[in-house]
Amino acid sequence: MARGPRQFAARYGPWAIVAGASEGIGAAFAHALAAKGLDLVIVARRAGPLAELGDELETRHKVKVQALALDLGEPGNIAALLAALADREIGLLVWNAALSVMGPFLDQPLDAHLTELEVNCRSPLTVVHALGNLMVARRRGGIILLSSLSGMQGTALVANYAATKAWTRVLAEGLWWELGKSGVDVLACVAGATETPGYRSSAPKRGSDANVPVQSPDAVAAEALAALGRRPSIITGSRNRFAAALLSRLLPRRAAVRLMGRTMDRMYGG
Ligand SMILES: NC(=O)c1ccc[n+]([C@@H]2O[C@H](COP(=O)([O-])OP(=O)(O)OC[C@H]3O[C@@H](n4cnc5c(N)ncnc54)[C@H](OP(=O)(O)O)[C@@H]3O)[C@@H](O)[C@H]2O)c1
Repeated sequence: MARGPRQFAARYGPWAIVAGASEGIGAAFAHALAAKGLDLVIVARRAGPLAELGDELETRHKVKVQALALDLGEPGNIAALLAALADREIGLLVWNAALSVMGPFLDQPLDAHLTELEVNCRSPLTVVHALGNLMVARRRGGIILLSSLSGMQGTALVANYAATKAWTRVLAEGLWWELGKSGVDVLACVAGATETPGYRSSAPKRGSDANVPVQSPDAVAAEALAALGRRPSIITGSRNRFAAALLSRLLPRRAAVRLMGRTMDRMYGG
């Protein structure tokens, strides 16, 4: 059954937080949520793009916006973030920020892999725990965690990133059942290639992604928001759903991992 903006705001308002909001899929979530009348806390490292987005949302949608320029890979900043949220009722959390370390695993410094764990796993875990408790006490709310098709199996050249995205999906799915009993909806949004600055800066070799279905950030956000409260996870885009079914259900694991590896070698290999 379709949900109007009013019903959505009553269930997931009055405030939403989008972690990693300044561009790409996060900005698309911020626009979509503001259009539904939710006030927004938007977080990213760069203050400039964040302030611009905040002005645009306030002008276009007449909502309140608080912009917080924070590096979510710094553990101390998570405490600061939670303190900044303490005086408002957050009905929806979208954890979109992620670090994607590209390239051969052993060529990257260990510190980069550990920061990837911080931004993609430890920080969202801390925030989900804190806000989840408040939502359960109110017996309403929503949590959306961004996962990736790369996390449906091992994926070469982004092995650690893909593992964090598998962790994200499994965490969200488990919490969907557990917190759902207390009226809190949790969703893993499993995106495939999406036309964002992050995707473009990963620099797939020219023409190498010609057969890869690339979605728009708006489409990813719209599918996720429609799925929230209805299922534990959504793979966005029909071609991505087909690819996921092939990789995780039809092919033997060895063949699936090899297919992903070959695709990554073609797109990003030396
Ligand atoms: N694009 C794809 O093809 C794709 C595919 C599958 C899954 N996903 C997932 O979708 C999500 C968004 O991807 P995207 O391509 O839209 O990313 P993006 O274009 O790189 O944008 C990421 C957003 O997060 C912020 N951010 C990054 N690191 C941060 C940090 N340490 N602290 C605070 N903010 C941070 C960035 O702003 P600042 O730089 O200002 O901090 C930006 O607003 C990610 O979780 C990604 O794993 C993307």
